[in-house]
Amino acid sequence: MTLKHIVSVSQFTKAQVVSFVKRASFFKENPCTVSFPTKTLITMFFEPSTRTSASFQAAAYRLGCKVISLSDQSSSSQKGETLEDTIKTLSHYGDAIALRHPKKGSAQLATTVSKIPVINAGDGTGEHPTQALLDIFTIYSELKKRNIDLFSDARSSTITITFVGDLKHSRTIHSLVHVLAMFPNIRFIYIAPPSLEMPDEIVDMLNELNISQIANIYLYNAMPQTDVFYITRIQKERFETMRDYYSITLSHDYKNYCITPEIMEFAKPTAIIMHPLPRTTEISAEIDADPRAVYFTQVENGVYMRMAILEHVFSA
Ligand code: NCD
Repeated sequence: MTLKHIVSVSQFTKAQVVSFVKRASFFKENPCTVSFPTKTLITMFFEPSTRTSASFQAAAYRLGCKVISLSDQSSSSQKGETLEDTIKTLSHYGDAIALRHPKKGSAQLATTVSKIPVINAGDGTGEHPTQALLDIFTIYSELKKRNIDLFSDARSSTITITFVGDLKHSRTIHSLVHVLAMFPNIRFIYIAPPSLEMPDEIVDMLNELNISQIANIYLYNAMPQTDVFYITRIQKERFETMRDYYSITLSHDYKNYCITPEIMEFAKPTAIIMHPLPRTTEISAEIDADPRAVYFTQVENGVYMRMAILEHVFSA
């Protein structure tokens, strides 16, 4: 039997994405209906995480599984052990590994030595497929409340998604655009500092799919056109020098990558504001009270989506 690794969103069909969303919605309505008491999830995080790590654990507990949690600080990687040896070892202790690692391609590498499914929980600036699925679940559910059906081939209206912030390093966006591109009448706007624009290979891939992409406009101009705002932080830990980082966050232009109550005056009343979190200064706390802010709904939906993912991985 082939192992059900989840490494990249490019391995999913549209039908699989829709089925994950339906299953996550089911778990949201019926939280404790499936049980895997003989299964053990191993979470192995080589980078900091609050939501991804804790929501995988919460999802596993809700499915009646056991969990083993490791971090690089508590593992033999501190003694110089290779990722391959760590994964080979963990393969003997559980039934799936959720792996986060700072190096792009590390989840793929892990699949070459693992005897159990590997779930990519973020590989450097590469991908974050489980976040993309919970983001799609959130977009689908929130737009549905506004009578817009993301999945429908019969939908005539265009959905505009505006990505704001560090598009170069954001693995959540790199995965999400692939999934959104599966659905009809989607249009992307990119608002990023000059050195942090969407990588060319992603822009080229979306051009081949005939997705409309607009870059280099002011946030102010994107406000009235946007249905979904997807805001990200400038990823300090990915910069070679702190001077490069501060040259962006302390520049006059930085406000062009920030959501404030003042700028939200220009947004559609039906728009939604998303963020994978953690946030720094790009969304002010006053925005939390805006009914259009759904980033804590994303947090909630993450548990149900990860239940759907673990069910898929654990089912023979
Ligand atoms: C993101 C990540 O780790 O890629 N967070 C998350 O998983 N929810 C985004 C980020 O770190 O900025």
